[in-house]
Amino acid sequence: MIEYDNISVECTEAGKTFLSVGTIVDTMLDKGFSRHDYVVTIGGGIMGDMGGFVAGIYMRGLPLFHIPTTLISQVDSCIGGKVGVNSVKGKNALGMFVHPQSVLIDPGTLLSLDERNYLSGIAEIIKYGLIRNPDLVCKLEQCATAVQRREIDILRDIIWDCILIKKQLVEIDEKDFGIRRILNYGHTLGHAIESNTDYKRYLHGEAISIGIAFASHLSVKAGYLDKSDYMRIIRLLDLYGLPSSWIDFNPENLIDSIHRDKKRKTKNTMILLKKIGETIIDEEIEDNHILESLKDFRI
Ligand code: GLY
Repeated sequence: MIEYDNISVECTEAGKTFLSVGTIVDTMLDKGFSRHDYVVTIGGGIMGDMGGFVAGIYMRGLPLFHIPTTLISQVDSCIGGKVGVNSVKGKNALGMFVHPQSVLIDPGTLLSLDERNYLSGIAEIIKYGLIRNPDLVCKLEQCATAVQRREIDILRDIIWDCILIKKQLVEIDEKDFGIRRILNYGHTLGHAIESNTDYKRYLHGEAISIGIAFASHLSVKAGYLDKSDYMRIIRLLDLYGLPSSWIDFNPENLIDSIHRDKKRKTKNTMILLKKIGETIIDEEIEDNHILESLKDFRI
């Protein structure tokens, strides 16, 4: 017989702070949690981040289990071990790697998501196809109706495709200094869009969708990707009602945000596409190249 206690947490990006983690830790202390207990998170990525962080620090570490219930957390954040909270000055500025002992994914929980939240998760799935699995891109094109209807068999299939890609990358490069960075396809601009709009205008997946469109545009401009592949990517984003452009932004502000990206070394690092299913990590991208591309992306 397993005894458990629930701790409910408000899951917002603004509430994902060290203060909230402290409150959870104090509640666990009040309830008498010991080093023999476990942390089980049930929810989306913010829940996994906060619960995982608590598991990493409580009495120097408790075993962690994730039960992700959103599409983005099922295909991406539930494995790989990244946990963390925001500081006043930076998203996920306090973080570490805490791997779950086990992850339980039930695609049936996706039926409870509203349409916008559900579809925004598709952007991460498209990302997985683009960086590593052309068959997944074909599946998303050919089975769009089943995916939109949230049919369990197709969901199980595509979630598995994504998890497998992430598992392979994380096993090679756990700490995210090498090949794991390709998981950031579309995220450099996506994160900049989120911070420039105070995390209010776009859901994470929607900002990533615009980021994917931009990274694909940049890939064409850099001479890596065929224009026809770019058009195919835009059609796929459209098919799922995901945004692929954004007009009313200030390119200079976006560049500032890109500079604050914690993964930057000296020049800008962008993950670009050579073709659908194959990436290139370009660490030499100059500001004016991004600026120019942003300007013609805006038109
Ligand atoms: N979500 C990207 C990563 O875990 O590396």
